[in-house]
Amino acid sequence: MSKLILKPEERIILALDFPVLKEAKTWVERLGGKVKTYKVGPILFLNSGPRGIKDLSNYGADIFLDLKFHDIPSTVEKAAKQVVGHGIKMFTIHALGGFEMMRVVAEGVRTESERLSRPKPLVLAVTVLTSHSDESLSELGIEGTSKNSVLRLAEIAERAGVDGLVCSGFEVESLGKEFGDRFTLVVPGVRLGDKTQDQKRVTTPVEAVSRGADYLVIGRAITEADNPGAALDEIILSIS
Ligand code: C5P
Repeated sequence: MSKLILKPEERIILALDFPVLKEAKTWVERLGGKVKTYKVGPILFLNSGPRGIKDLSNYGADIFLDLKFHDIPSTVEKAAKQVVGHGIKMFTIHALGGFEMMRVVAEGVRTESERLSRPKPLVLAVTVLTSHSDESLSELGIEGTSKNSVLRLAEIAERAGVDGLVCSGFEVESLGKEFGDRFTLVVPGVRLGDKTQDQKRVTTPVEAVSRGADYLVIGRAITEADNPGAALDEIILSIS
């Protein structure tokens, strides 16, 4: 796979972490001229479900379904097959679910897309959450640096046949060196200033993109900015 050629604004995925669909729609109406892809996670999905996805898609938005599936292989495979019917652009599973879980998802999504004659959503494996530090990983019994954990999980994800990885801006460069253009790389934990909130492995948009990120997931840096439109413009300009 060759590296994605994307316009700066196409790299931005806005995280719609709102508990009501109405608010999410307001953001798509407000920023839809610039941002094409919107992330629906559990906060919004538990409020509005597939109906919300349909409503947002009706604006012409591409949907990133971020429910981070992590369960036994057969359960996640069946859930992933359900994703195909909803016209989703990309969705997440946890790489920590292991090789077999990732393998049956990659295979199941491929066959289900063929069966339904629908575009295949990208399967993204979340490596190590950007809210983790080396210390919080050690507390869980995962020793070594977060970068080493990400590289190890990426090697398993590659064998399992997933399309992309979610990682922090600190690991994208190493992933590019190790795996070339094999993966679509999606980076959350993006900040313009020093307000990190609950995120730990944080980078600026320009750092993440210059190191090889394809997409940036951005939530509060835009939605909680004093002037969201200006924050978005600043981000687009910085990666242009
Ligand atoms: O508001 P903020 O920009 O921190 O939001 C980041 C979004 O990306 C959240 O919706 C979060 O669930 C998601 N995410 C993350 N770290 C990952 C994967 C997804 O922060 N590794």
